[in-house]
Amino acid sequence: MKRFVCFSAVVLYVMTMYSFPCNAADKIKIGLSLSDIEIERWPIEEAIMRRLANEHGAELISQVANHDTSLQNAQIANMVDQGADVVIIIAEDGATAAVAVAKAAEEGIPCISYDRLIKSDKLAAYISFDNIEVGRIQARAIVDRVNRGNFVLLGGSPTDNNAVLLRKGQMEIIQPLIDQDKIRIVADHWVNNWAQAKAAAIMQDILNSQDNRIDAVIASNDSTALGALQAMKTAGLAGKVPLSGQDATAAGCKAIVEGELTMTVFKDVRRLSPIAIDLAIKLARKEKLEGLRQVPLAELTVDSTMQGSVPCRFLKVVKIDKDNLYEEIILNGFQQYDDLYRDIPANRRPPRP
Ligand code: GAL
Repeated sequence: MKRFVCFSAVVLYVMTMYSFPCNAADKIKIGLSLSDIEIERWPIEEAIMRRLANEHGAELISQVANHDTSLQNAQIANMVDQGADVVIIIAEDGATAAVAVAKAAEEGIPCISYDRLIKSDKLAAYISFDNIEVGRIQARAIVDRVNRGNFVLLGGSPTDNNAVLLRKGQMEIIQPLIDQDKIRIVADHWVNNWAQAKAAAIMQDILNSQDNRIDAVIASNDSTALGALQAMKTAGLAGKVPLSGQDATAAGCKAIVEGELTMTVFKDVRRLSPIAIDLAIKLARKEKLEGLRQVPLAELTVDSTMQGSVPCRFLKVVKIDKDNLYEEIILNGFQQYDDLYRDIPANRRPPRP
């Protein structure tokens, strides 16, 4: 009898373990490794991912590398050690992070490259936007305003593959005009960490060396554009010289409303974050991933020497300028009315939604 009770208890225990996989030990643990939280979008996306993970009964553990590439790799390894079932990575450096991805893969832990490509065919998935198209949209919007003269190029962080893709898209549009001697590139810089302060200093140097004679600035995102704008304001060029951005940040959109930034690109990160969490949960459960297509790394990096391929998904992007900002950004709730129009006189504001 004693033996039977004991046996039944064991059976019951085993059954409980398998039928209720939601106790603390079995809870899915998703690691999130962020390059930084200085750029407006990253903390927003972290919050969305945390909420969604919680809604799915999973736990999100996150760490921020503050632009330190070796720290980011150590943090990823640390999350694997802490028992993460899967790691989502916003890489500071797409080459260095490949080492962390390979190590995690060796331990059977899949990694998702989020928005920025990690140059590794050990990735479980890469999800982003159409970054070459972002570059085309930026350059087209500027060339629509001015298609000759002295152009300045402000690229993003050189360790971020997106910066390279944006530049590729921008050049597709402006190279023909350069070849026709219409456009002259008077300055071409990459901005480490996409940092606004660095972009401001770079732009100040450019304006000094060019005697303020510039006709257009193709900046690769809102932070670099707003840095450039600081220097352009001092030179009296704000609102006169076309300037591009990306991300539809609050400050970027406000600058469009005020006529100082020509355009930005809206990438609806509220759609990207749920895809990451959905993939992460499927990977943790060892389920099949859907909606991804295999893309060669050579294509993703624009580097023919790269081997292998990665399962990818890319989302669409939208050009934003003063004509569609209200509909696309305010009415759809991406930015708040008051943040954008607070300095605009009441009689010149659109209706409050
Ligand atoms: C890029 C990203 C942009 C921008 C930038 C700075 O990788 O695609 O949206 O945020 O990083 O963090």
